[in-house]
Amino acid sequence: MDKILSTRAMLLKAKQEGYAVPAFNIHNMETLQVVVETAAEMGSPVIIAGTPSTITYAGAEYIKAMAEVAAEKYNIPIAIHLDHFEDVEEIKHDIDVGFRSCMIDASKEAFENNITTVKEVVDYAHRFDCTVEAELGKLGGQEDDLVVDEKDTMYTNPKDAVEFVKATGVDSLAVAIGTAHGLYKGEPKLDFERLQKIRDMVDVPLVLHGASDVPDELVQKAISLGICKVNIATDLKIPFSDAVKKYFNEHPEANDPRKYMTPGKEAMKKIVQHKINVCGSANRY
Ligand code: 13P
Repeated sequence: MDKILSTRAMLLKAKQEGYAVPAFNIHNMETLQVVVETAAEMGSPVIIAGTPSTITYAGAEYIKAMAEVAAEKYNIPIAIHLDHFEDVEEIKHDIDVGFRSCMIDASKEAFENNITTVKEVVDYAHRFDCTVEAELGKLGGQEDDLVVDEKDTMYTNPKDAVEFVKATGVDSLAVAIGTAHGLYKGEPKLDFERLQKIRDMVDVPLVLHGASDVPDELVQKAISLGICKVNIATDLKIPFSDAVKKYFNEHPEANDPRKYMTPGKEAMKKIVQHKINVCGSANRY
């Protein structure tokens, strides 16, 4: 069996059974280790996501090799996912490296151009059994180098979503229903009515981006209304870096990465456990 999977089977199972698979953004070996080890302990399927800057930083081949080692070690379903990629050639390259799940984010393009770009990726990716996620509408906030001003955000139109999925053949759809990347100024307001409409009209699994800093009950309500994949980045980065900062404050002479990284990993692990519980994905394989 291939060790690195597409997200097809795992998201369809989540859709049928009414839970979500968490997609955790990782940056290096340590963060990947925490995610896979915790998912294995809890029996949760898991998606390891890397943005373009993460893949540039760590290297697609390194991420793929580490994920393979982790999948083998723990014998669990793992997908490694290209998150918010905008460059079609980069996606093709990383599929050639062995990624079997990708997001082509052409959401800032006009509807027709979004379709054309996504379709090109779908045509390529499906030859390698790689699943493709796309975004319709536009999420606000900041995800690494991707910054969308609040005034440029746009909610997903359910009718457009039907046409978009049909025209592109995309495997899953990221919907804009009021979440944003990063931290919120006030309490996020999610448009559940819109989500329900999209769910009723569109067949493919739906994806919630920007799930950090969203109250658990709201994420769970979104899952109950059809979200099958929940993306989490910021809620992991903050406790990891806070714990490392605290360690350096308490041990200003420290210089051993094995020592100063460990509290970061421990802090991150607690959040990964919590998010798996919020997603309802424990003991699902
Ligand atoms: P957050 O950083 O808000 O968790 O968003 C993560 C995300 O949507 C990655 O695609």
